[in-house]
Amino acid sequence: MALKKGVNVKPAAGKLGILLPGMGAVATTFIAGVQAIRKGIGKPIGSLTQLGHIRIGKRTDDNNQRINEYVSLAKLDDIVFGGWDIFPDNAYQAAIRAGVLDEHKHLAPLKKDLEAIKPMPAVFEQKWVKKLDGPNVKKGTSKMHLAEQVMEDIKTFKETHGCDRLVAVWCGSTEVYRTPSDVHSTLAKFEDGLRASHDDIAPSQIYAYACLKMGVPYANGAPNLSVDTGALLELARKQGLPITGKDFKTGQTLMKTILAPGFKARMLGLEGWYSTNILGNRDGEVLDDPESFKSKEVTKLGVIDHILQPKLYPDLYGNISHVVRINYYPPRGDNKEGWDNIDIVGWLGYPMQIKVNFLCRDSILAAPIVLDLALFMDFAARAGMSGIQEWLSFYWKSPMTPEGLYPEHDLFIQLMKLKNTLRYTKGDELITHLGAEYYD
Ligand SMILES: NC(=O)c1ccc[n+]([C@@H]2O[C@H](COP(=O)([O-])OP(=O)(O)OC[C@H]3O[C@@H](n4cnc5c(N)ncnc54)[C@H](O)[C@@H]3O)[C@@H](O)[C@H]2O)c1
Repeated sequence: MALKKGVNVKPAAGKLGILLPGMGAVATTFIAGVQAIRKGIGKPIGSLTQLGHIRIGKRTDDNNQRINEYVSLAKLDDIVFGGWDIFPDNAYQAAIRAGVLDEHKHLAPLKKDLEAIKPMPAVFEQKWVKKLDGPNVKKGTSKMHLAEQVMEDIKTFKETHGCDRLVAVWCGSTEVYRTPSDVHSTLAKFEDGLRASHDDIAPSQIYAYACLKMGVPYANGAPNLSVDTGALLELARKQGLPITGKDFKTGQTLMKTILAPGFKARMLGLEGWYSTNILGNRDGEVLDDPESFKSKEVTKLGVIDHILQPKLYPDLYGNISHVVRINYYPPRGDNKEGWDNIDIVGWLGYPMQIKVNFLCRDSILAAPIVLDLALFMDFAARAGMSGIQEWLSFYWKSPMTPEGLYPEHDLFIQLMKLKNTLRYTKGDELITHLGAEYYD
């Protein structure tokens, strides 16, 4: 739905429940992180909603407001957490297992709060995540029956925790690669498919359906096909709800969307970009299955082409060799190491090389994204913005776009789009960066 300039946004009153299908490394780092920040034992570094500012008006106006004061966002103190997982571990046990946050410094002071968060039984079918199997799983007579159980969970969660509003962010494992089939084309076919337990309907799609049916905005943090189908888009529109995805833009792809726009801005050519990663957490284990990796490979590969526009610049970007690899290497745990070798070309075709060695912490980069998405999706819902939220492309490796439009991958254009959307909702002037001498 098109957004009106200067919209009336309903106030962020009461509690916001954030529902997380999948409570592993990313989800628990996010939950524990928010709790640590509330207790003053950590800072929300990496979160635009918590630390970012937005300029309003001319540079001479000197009006830079904090984003979370400029638009109405839920306060961290008003958030409650819930979720589902195939393992019954509570959020404390899952966070210890994930090994991201320091047990003594960050988890021990939060132990009681984290232990109280227990995953609800999951919708799961091993053919979609071949490397995992767990006991905390729902049983149902059909996929529709499973969706109804998730809807019941949502209702109970909302009542038990006295939530005013809910949002969902998928933090579950990456499912195997599939493209949409006929059952995903319309809502009616999808619902028939749920009743008939159609083979092509994945667990992640069952959660997305259940959330949207219950009026819960939905974001997909993984690369697999989920809410990005005709059927679920139709449901989101029908319910007047925002949806967004997919695949959190955290480590290597974040670097790509920072560097590639720079090469293009300077009209430097690119011959090849070789990216490899070693990763030792459960996500790495899941991605060791070629079919789950295929989902990831597709979202990782799209980025460079869209930024560099080889059709417009065939001499510079017409023949790029782009390779992405992920290797499961248990000793590295959640601390992923990424290597990039970038072959660039300068004046008269002289070659140069850039090497990037990023020793990153995957979930440390992902957690603030989950927070921002949850808060912005709740904002979008209160502002009456429904369907695909392109202004949140900033957060995604493979941003969802309306049919026929290519995604915007350039991080800096994405940020401008996000901030201009916020200005638009407030009825303020958009910032075009046109020089002051050209204004009337
Ligand atoms: N960490 C990052 O930087 C990053 C970046 C982009 C995308 N992602 C994606 O985010 C997701 C979470 O990553 P992670 O590092 O937390 O992985 P993880 O393996 O630690 O956690 C995923 C959790 O999902 C659970 N799960 C799997 N299928 C489920 C289902 N059907 N219902 C409920 N729970 C289910 C697993 O049991 C596991 O606990 C993955 O899909 C990953 O690819 C992560």
